[in-house]
Amino acid sequence: MTKATGLRVGVVGCGYWGSKHIRVLHSLESVSTIAVIDPNPDRALQLSRNYPALEAYKDLDEALPHLDAVIIATPPSTHKPLALKAIEAGVHVMVEKPLATTAADARDMIEAAKAKDVVLMVGHTFEYHSAVWQLREMVQRKELGDLYYLDTARLNLGLYQHDCNVLFDLAPHDVSILNYVLGATPVSVQCWSSHHANAKLEDVGYLRLHYKNPDVTANVHVSWLDPCKVRRVTMVGSQKMVIFNDLSSEERIKVHDKGVSQSPQLGEDLTQPPMSYRYGDVVSPHLVMNEPLMVEDEHFVDCILLGMSPLTGGANGLAVVEVLEAAQLSAAEGREVLIDEIRAGGPQKVVLEEVKIHQNGSASVGELR
Ligand SMILES: NC(=O)c1ccc[n+]([C@@H]2O[C@H](COP(=O)([O-])OP(=O)(O)OC[C@H]3O[C@@H](n4cnc5c(N)ncnc54)[C@H](O)[C@@H]3O)[C@@H](O)[C@H]2O)c1
Repeated sequence: MTKATGLRVGVVGCGYWGSKHIRVLHSLESVSTIAVIDPNPDRALQLSRNYPALEAYKDLDEALPHLDAVIIATPPSTHKPLALKAIEAGVHVMVEKPLATTAADARDMIEAAKAKDVVLMVGHTFEYHSAVWQLREMVQRKELGDLYYLDTARLNLGLYQHDCNVLFDLAPHDVSILNYVLGATPVSVQCWSSHHANAKLEDVGYLRLHYKNPDVTANVHVSWLDPCKVRRVTMVGSQKMVIFNDLSSEERIKVHDKGVSQSPQLGEDLTQPPMSYRYGDVVSPHLVMNEPLMVEDEHFVDCILLGMSPLTGGANGLAVVEVLEAAQLSAAEGREVLIDEIRAGGPQKVVLEEVKIHQNGSASVGELR
């Protein structure tokens, strides 16, 4: 296909992340027209300096008749209405993470896309990252032995969002990575979250995800309020341990051939050490690094042109939103929440104002509701 006969794609919301989609779309041979859709006129002005052929629209209604597909990169609370509008017009849609702010909204979007027979994809960028593919292969090949636990940390003095807390902003990445790597979705979630620098929006969160098959627990720490930037996934097994550090430019994945096990002589003899330790090599496998956003956008375009189902389709986005909703409910009610409760249509919104706040600004699960 030549540029002249290619797809016409609009990016709705061209702030920090939408402008990256604009850059990536420009390098795709099968995209002929790229449109900026943003009520802020500065966005199109700035982008058109680098990409003079861009079309610009102030709102989606105006743009839709001229487009085959849109990528929605607006604040999360706007994802559902914008996506439904595009779907209704028969336009293919990719929505940035999180797909929606409630599982019910995500389900509505999936139904609408099915009824109109258009592609609905979610921008779970890490599922297009070669380091994450490597982690998944290691789990599938049982390279780590028995999987003991997983741990993720996504911390920084982060950008506070207007319309969502740190759980909905950062945790979608970790939940999508964990679901993908384990090839499963969790059965229950426990969460503790608190807000400090912002009066309403939680800026620190700890999630505990329980998976059944494989039977393993994953801990997720997300924070907009940490002095150190951390982007890390750790998997610990009985034979080996692996760390994916997305901030490392050269050694993103390090496999530690080390472990610890109970000493065979463990028993009544308290003079013997209880554990024995094994230290081996640290190996950093070579990764072919293609920009994940490029791989993702290319896949979206291929799905439209070739009639394929996306790797991160609506159901994949819904699975992540269910976990986020369960986490929100768990933090508010101070209990473990089953994903089945969310699927059964449990409370869909935890009203932030209902969270009782300590005098120091933090909230603890034991005292909520
Ligand atoms: N996949 C990733 O790694 C990744 C990284 C960052 C952000 N994101 C996601 O991208 C989305 C946007 O985040 P951001 O950091 O770019 O936000 P941003 O605030 O920088 O940009 C949002 C843009 O949307 C525009 N906008 C708001 N309402 C609109 C509407 N109704 N129609 C059209 N435009 C509208 C705003 O004017 C602004 O330009 C969020 O969903 C976020 O979670 C994803």
